[in-house]
Order: sequence, then C-alpha cells, then structure tokens
Amino acid sequence: MYEPNKLVCDCCERVYDITNKRILCDCGCLLTIEIGDTDFNWSIVRGRPMEVWRYRELIPTPREASIVSMGEGGTPLIEMVRLNSVLKLRGVKVKFEGSNPTGSFKDRGLTVASTMALFFKCRAMIVASTGNTASSMSAYARRAGLKPIVIIPSSGVARGKLGQLKLYGALIVEVSGGFDEAMKAVIEYSKIGSDIYIVNSINPWRIEGQKTIAYEIIEQHGVPDWVVVPVGNGGNIYSIWKGFKEILRLGLIDKIPRMLAVQALGSSPILRAYKSGVYEPFKEPRTIASAIRIGNPVHWRRVLRVIEESRGAVVGVDDSEIIRAHKEIARLEGLGLETSSSTTLAGLKKALEDKVVDRGENAILVATGHALKEPEIIDSYDLELIKVDSVNDLISILSKL
Ligand code: F0G
Repeated sequence: MYEPNKLVCDCCERVYDITNKRILCDCGCLLTIEIGDTDFNWSIVRGRPMEVWRYRELIPTPREASIVSMGEGGTPLIEMVRLNSVLKLRGVKVKFEGSNPTGSFKDRGLTVASTMALFFKCRAMIVASTGNTASSMSAYARRAGLKPIVIIPSSGVARGKLGQLKLYGALIVEVSGGFDEAMKAVIEYSKIGSDIYIVNSINPWRIEGQKTIAYEIIEQHGVPDWVVVPVGNGGNIYSIWKGFKEILRLGLIDKIPRMLAVQALGSSPILRAYKSGVYEPFKEPRTIASAIRIGNPVHWRRVLRVIEESRGAVVGVDDSEIIRAHKEIARLEGLGLETSSSTTLAGLKKALEDKVVDRGENAILVATGHALKEPEIIDSYDLELIKVDSVNDLISILSKL
C-alpha cells in the first residue's frame, strides 16, 4: 500500500497531514516529518546542482509551493592534512557550512521553512535566536518578500550577526535574559496561531533542510565512522542523523555513522544528562561560543536518542580548548570557523584522549558557521604587527625572517 509523507508527533504518535501549518502537536510535543514512499535514488540526482534542492524527492514540500532559494547547500568537504598528522588520525575532514549564503548551516533549513511560509500565505517570519538563525531567516524572509522579526537575548549576539540583522532591516525584539527566555516567548506565541510563521528548529520543515548535510556527506565521502556536531538546541545533530537514517531505510547505505555531540562545558545540560541519566537545564549558561549558549535545549530528548541509537557519545569542552582549536584549525589548515564550530575539533581531541574515538577511525567535523560572524573574538587575538617607515626597513626586516 502507498505510504504518504506525514507529520507525526514524537510523543503521542498522532498523525497530521503534511500540509498542516501547525508547529507543535496538540499535546505540546515536537512533530517529525516522516518520508513515505519515494522513488529517490542516486541516479535521479546526478546532473543536478549540488544544493539543498538536489534532494527534492526527500523534502516533501507541496508540489504547488514556489521554492525560495539562494543556491544554499553544496558546501565543500575539506580534507585536513596538517591536522591529521598533528592528531595522528587516519582522516579528519571538515564540512564547511560557513560557505552558505549567510555564512551558516541555517540557510539549509530556512530555504525550506521560507518556502512553506509562502505556501501558508504568511506575511512575516519570526524566530528566537543566538544570531545565526536570525540572520539566515532575515535573508530568506526578504528573498520571499516577507517581514523578518527576530527575538534576541539581552545576553548578547555576535557582532557580525547583529550587522546582518541591520543589513536586512529585521525588526529586532530583545528579551531580557538568555536564548532560553527568547525561546520560551516564541513557544508561548506559537500557541496563539497567526500569519507570522515561526521558524525555530521546533518547526519540522527546518529539519528537512538541515538533514541534507547527511546526504551530501554520503555523496562526497560515503559513511564515515564519526560525525562530530556542535550542540546548542540539538536540532542540527538530530537533522543530520535523520538524513542518514532515511538513506539507510531506502537501502542506499548499509550503516549510519556514530554521532559525537559536543557541548561547551558551561552550557552542557545534555552532557550532564548523558553522564548522570538525569536531565536538568543550566540556569545561567556560559561560554564564549555565544551561538551555543543554551541552557535548556528544546531537542534534548532527541539528542539522547540519536546518541543511543547511533552508539555515539557526548563530550564537553571548555572555553580555552575552544579558542585553542579556533586558532589551530585556522593556522594549520586555513579554515576560519565560528567558535561554536571549533568545538568540534576540541571535542574530537577530547574523544581521542578518552578513547571514545579510535585513532584508526575517520571523522567529519561539521563546521557550522563562518569566522567573520564573531569579529569581537578575532579582535581579541594577538596581532603580529611591525610598523615600518621606509622600504629599506621593510627589506631589512623581511631578510631576517
Ligand atoms: N553552530 C552554530 C554556528 C549555530 O549558530 C548553532 C545554533 C549551533 C551550532 C547549534 O545548533 O542549536 O541545532 O544544536 N544556533 C542557533 C541560532 C541557536 O539561533 O542561531 P543546534
């Protein structure tokens, strides 16, 4: 019998039609899009551009929907050469999401969510954000001709992201507190229902875009031993895992990778739950990596499930390890990442020390955002600056290097 695509509740398993505009189930839980029967296979996509919509058979937006896109996705999978020899690894590669149109992986989810916002005839989109989702949403809202409204925490948003919000002319609402307070406001708002579309990762369509990271990894590399992902709310690691699971179910791969979740130690409720078996939010999350400064991740249950089902692990890294990895990946490999993304390298090192990952295994680090998002962090680094008054001075200095 033909199996249609559907929206299914994570808790009570209630099923809704795929075109239902709701974000959460009536019981308050998250909804998952389940892919039904599909004629997807690798030969269908051959010849299409490397971007999110290459996989359109697995992104079940209604056929009538007009796609809002800027060619997002198709990001490079970059071989690490010096890093591998320093870490004595078989093969670390970086999936560089900083090369998306607004500089983060969020564009993958927003191309799909903004397509649905138009389909539902919404007049605006709204999101609570530590900055990247807000920037991405604002860009895609403008592309779709909709008004962007962002809720940001008073605890701070990186300067590059704030600049993007100004550039796109987003309406910015600042709530006092951190991301968790901003998120709570959006969840309350979602209960009202309006023509302002909520596009936080509780929106199931966001996940459908972000899962394409997995499809690309399979095409670019095959199935690695480990995929290493920074975890804030947990939506992205869940999306990537969902992508691998779907391809497994279609019989196009024969295993899924182990997922390594990395949290900043000062904001690590999922790590604590992983170790102790008891989940409790962090009331005052702290870390230099503001993108993942989240004390009560909405997807925490899903992340623990991903870790269990993929035989993965959770590790925590402190700010000094994050900064060391930030500089290391830039200076050994030329890659400029956000600090939240450099947690993946710091986390992999920790997992090697703890013998969670074996040196003979390979790993893909999902570098979620671009270094230019956080100019204030880069500004704080030492400057190797020599001032010269004449060409002779310059020649003399260079000859001594
Ligand atoms: N990396 C970057 C660069 C991010 O911006 C985020 C989340 C994450 C990792 C974590 O992803 O939440 O799916 O586990 N940023 C959100 C935002 C919270 O509002 O931009 P997650």
